[in-house]
Amino acid sequence: MDKQKERRNFNGHLVLVPCPLEGHMNPMLHLAKLLHSKGFLITIICTHLNPSPNPSHYPEFSFEFLDGISPAELGYDSFGGDVMLYLLVLNNKCKTPFRKCLLKLQKNVGSFGPVSCVVYDAVMYFSAVIADEVEIPRIVLRTSSATTFLALSLDLNQRDLTDQEHHPEQSLSEFPLLRAKDMPVFNMSDEKAAEEVLTRIHYGTSTASAVIWNSLHCLEQEMFNKAQERIVSPIYPICPSLHYNNKQKNSSFKSSYTEDESCISWLDTQTPNSVIYVSIGSIVRIAKSELLEMAWGLANSDQPFLWVVRPGLVDGSNGLELLPNGFMEITRKWGKVVQWAPQKRVLAHKSVGGFWTHNGWNSSIESVYEGVPMICWPRIGDQRVNARIVGHVWKVGIEMEENLERWKVESAIRRLMESEEGVEIRKTAVELKEKVRVSLGKGGSSWEFLGKLVDFIKFL
Ligand code: UDX
Repeated sequence: MDKQKERRNFNGHLVLVPCPLEGHMNPMLHLAKLLHSKGFLITIICTHLNPSPNPSHYPEFSFEFLDGISPAELGYDSFGGDVMLYLLVLNNKCKTPFRKCLLKLQKNVGSFGPVSCVVYDAVMYFSAVIADEVEIPRIVLRTSSATTFLALSLDLNQRDLTDQEHHPEQSLSEFPLLRAKDMPVFNMSDEKAAEEVLTRIHYGTSTASAVIWNSLHCLEQEMFNKAQERIVSPIYPICPSLHYNNKQKNSSFKSSYTEDESCISWLDTQTPNSVIYVSIGSIVRIAKSELLEMAWGLANSDQPFLWVVRPGLVDGSNGLELLPNGFMEITRKWGKVVQWAPQKRVLAHKSVGGFWTHNGWNSSIESVYEGVPMICWPRIGDQRVNARIVGHVWKVGIEMEENLERWKVESAIRRLMESEEGVEIRKTAVELKEKVRVSLGKGGSSWEFLGKLVDFIKFL
C-alpha cells in the first residue's frame, strides 16, 4: 500500500529509536514490525554506525539517519570494551541531531504526519530528554530482563562491589534471589560516567508513559509484579524479538559481522542433540589465556562443537590466529570454528544439544525459545543476573566458574551433555519452551499485552 493511502487508516505515527549494538537492534526492529501490523506508521531514527537497519528490507517504514555520527569516531570497537563510556559519548553526540530530526517530523514535513509517540531503547536516553522538551509522549523499550532492572534499582549500599569480592555467595538481603556475585558489573574506565549512564537510563524508564519489555510474563512473572511496584506507568512484556524468531536470515540489519552459512550444512551432518554451540555474544572481550582454555576444554571434551570466535573477541586480534597450534587439525573431525553464526537458526537446528553462552539476554531467551539447555559463563553487565535466572529460576542451565580452566570446560560439557542431571535439565528446557511458545501464540500473554499497548498508544 502506498504511504499516503496507508496514512488514512493509521492509528498514529511512531518514531522508534534503536541502539546500534547487536543485542539491541533486533528487539526494536521486531517491535517496529509488530506495531506496524497493528496499524501504526513507523519512522526509524538511527545512525550510520553498525549495526544499522537495512531500509530496503522495510519498505513500509520511513527512515531518518542522524547527522554527524561517524563510525570512525563512534564505532563500539574504539571504546576498548567499555560499554558505559560508549553509551555516554553516543548519547551526548546524538542529542542535537535528534532534536533537529524530531522537530522536522513534528512540523509534519514527512509523509506520515505529526509524531504521536517516541519509542526508544532505554540506553538511548537522549531520546527522553528531547521528547520531553518537544512535548511528545515517550515509551521505553527495555532489551534486558525485569530482574536486571530490579537489580540495578537497588540502592548503592546494596550494590557495594566489595561484597562481590569478599562474600560472593552471600544472598542480598533486599533481593535474596541474587548473590553478591550475581550483581551487574561493567568494565568501566570512569565510574562517574557509568553512574551517570545508569542513572539516566533508570530515570528515563521510571518516567516514561509506558515500558515495553523484551521478556515474557511467564519467564519473570514475580519480577514484573515487583517492577510494577517501582514503575507507575503500565508495563508490557511483549518480547518482540521472539515473535519473528529464526528461520529467516538475520539480514534485516547491517551487522558488524558476516554470518557464516556453512555452519548449517555442517550441523546437517551431525547427530541430533549432539553439538555444543559456543558463543559469547557481540561485545564481551576475553583474554588470550581464556581463549586457549576454551580451545583445549572443547578439544578434550570429545563432544562435537560449533564455536564462534568473532574478530575482536580477544582485543586487537581476529581471534582465529590465536588458536593453539594444531587445534584446527586435531578437532577437524568433530568441531567447527566460525567468526559469526546465524545464531537463531543454529539454536533451532536439531543437532544442537547445548549452548555454552555468556548469557546476554538475547542469547538466553533465544536458547529458551528453542529448548536448548545452557552452560552459563556470564562476563559483564546484566549477564550474571541472566545466568542466575537460567540456572536457579528456570533450571535450564548449569553454572561454570568464572575462572576458566580447560578441565572445568570439559567437565561442564560432560555434565550437560552426558549426565543424568543433564537429561533432567533438557527435560525442563523443553517444558519451558512450550510455555514460551504458548505465550507467543495467538491468545498468549504477549499478544494480550500487545493489544493493550495498542489501545494505550491510541489514547495517549
Ligand atoms: C549485549 C549484552 O552483553 C547483553 O547482556 C545485553 O542483554 C544486550 O546487549 P550481546 O553481548 O551481544 O549483548 O549478547 P546478546 O544479548 O546475547 O545478543 C547477541 C545477539 O547476537 C543475539 O541476538 C544473537 O542471536 C546474535 N548473534 C550472536 C548472532 O547472530 N551470531 C553470533 O555468532 C553471535
